[in-house]
Amino acid sequence: MTDTASRPTPSPERVLIFDTTLRDGEQCPGATMTFEEKLAVAEMLDGMGVDIIEAGFPIASNGDFEAVAEIARRTKRAVIAGLARAVPADIVRAGEAVRFAARGRIHTFVSTSPIHLAHQMRKSEDEVLEIIQKTVAQARDLVEDVEWSAMDATRTPIDYLCRCVEAAIRAGATTINLPDTVGYATPDEYRAMFRAVRERVPDADKAVFSVHCHNDLGLAIANSLAGIEGGARQVECTINGIGERAGNAALEEIVMALRTRADVLPYATGIDTTQIMRASKLVAAATHFPVQYNKAVVGRNAFAHESGIHQDGMLKNQSTYEIMTPESVGVQKTSLVMGKHSGRAAFRSKLEEMGYRLSDNQFQDAFERFKALADRKKNVYDEDIEALVDENLATAHDRIRLVSLTVIAGTRGPQRATMRLDIEGRLVTEEADGNGPVDAVFNAIHALVPHEAKLELYDVHAVTEGTDAQAEVSVRLRQAERSVTARGADPDTLVASAKAYLAALNKLLAGATRLHAQHAAAE
Ligand code: KIV
Ligand code: ZN
Repeated sequence: MTDTASRPTPSPERVLIFDTTLRDGEQCPGATMTFEEKLAVAEMLDGMGVDIIEAGFPIASNGDFEAVAEIARRTKRAVIAGLARAVPADIVRAGEAVRFAARGRIHTFVSTSPIHLAHQMRKSEDEVLEIIQKTVAQARDLVEDVEWSAMDATRTPIDYLCRCVEAAIRAGATTINLPDTVGYATPDEYRAMFRAVRERVPDADKAVFSVHCHNDLGLAIANSLAGIEGGARQVECTINGIGERAGNAALEEIVMALRTRADVLPYATGIDTTQIMRASKLVAAATHFPVQYNKAVVGRNAFAHESGIHQDGMLKNQSTYEIMTPESVGVQKTSLVMGKHSGRAAFRSKLEEMGYRLSDNQFQDAFERFKALADRKKNVYDEDIEALVDENLATAHDRIRLVSLTVIAGTRGPQRATMRLDIEGRLVTEEADGNGPVDAVFNAIHALVPHEAKLELYDVHAVTEGTDAQAEVSVRLRQAERSVTARGADPDTLVASAKAYLAALNKLLAGATRLHAQHAAAE
């Protein structure tokens, strides 16, 4: 059991940040992260001041269990939470995973709305009340810090919701989460729900109340802020707002709204906001979910000014068109231009400035790739460096690697790709034709690594500006129920396409048995 003193207690002005990127975020289609990626994200969240990290759903798979347990072992500061349904086996498994944490939490939930009770759970209100009492008490026997969530709280009649919350607090829940599971509430309704529950439930002041908002109607941030006004002192959110369906409330938006509008929202968080951009990029790279250009706070246009009137205002005074500084979220206004004359020291300091901490081997690899890129490209921008380092980290454990690719393209087809791969140490080569150069490249991969996966998405965009910009390609593959998305970057669009496809294939193959190349042509 962890001791009571270790539980985070908010002062009236302090709002706890509960990040669920690794659980609700990772749960959304295509956002699966590898074990190493999850550890890197957890380290980042802990370092930036997140109070509670929901590290996963331990009963969901052995991989999820191992990730939660390892994050629990490694994390120095934040509370580590594991999710559990209101089922005894789930709670035992979550308890086993978080017991390694300096501060561990079991987060258990059950649906409370009539729609869920009738159609999903097929249980009566009294049966659910009994489940709440038993499962919260079971969790509380394992850890001191227990969060209980009323799934679909916002579609639950207030009288019944109050009875459920009362049962959970009586059974020992220390945090009560009232999620807007389906993103249905309006801010006024959400604020009123918290006020009513906190006024009506006996001993409500013994628990911390929490908001958890989904963005189906684009109201997740407005609702979260309204919930805080209604008395909640914990906010559940994800980096970049990733999550089920339209996503969860974005951490960076909540934190910057509270900071920027402290005049009307006098609540503080413990987040070091200068790490926000880095966290956004790390999660985008790990999940392969690109951040939309006009996304609040972390979109690439969030601090860009194009129109003449805006530029004129900005030149006279930054506050004319910026309500927060780019530096406050870790965006550097000026980009130090790196090129082929830059040496190791400049590259190392650039990486440090960008928040990367690489081992000697990782640094050496990244430096060689940077030099190769600088030879081909006039200016190497921060985004280029990020793309090459992130790709380097992501491919460290790959089983299939691209060795070389030559493509014959042009007006007179068929287009032909000659590809050489390293498959678990064996070099293999294949030539394939296609209806266009990308098709030829993907056909060559198919010939070398036969697989059933279907291509669901192929998307190309430029990382920076100019005709020598790096192309960034996203590929999504689906095999049966599993869908994975991966990115590849290179100044050559076809090489970027091959890298992206192979990265997706590597993700699908992670954990599969040894590969057998179709055509072995060892050197
Ligand atoms: O949206 C939701 O209701 C959830 C619960 C598991 C807390 O994610
Ligand atoms: Zn959710």
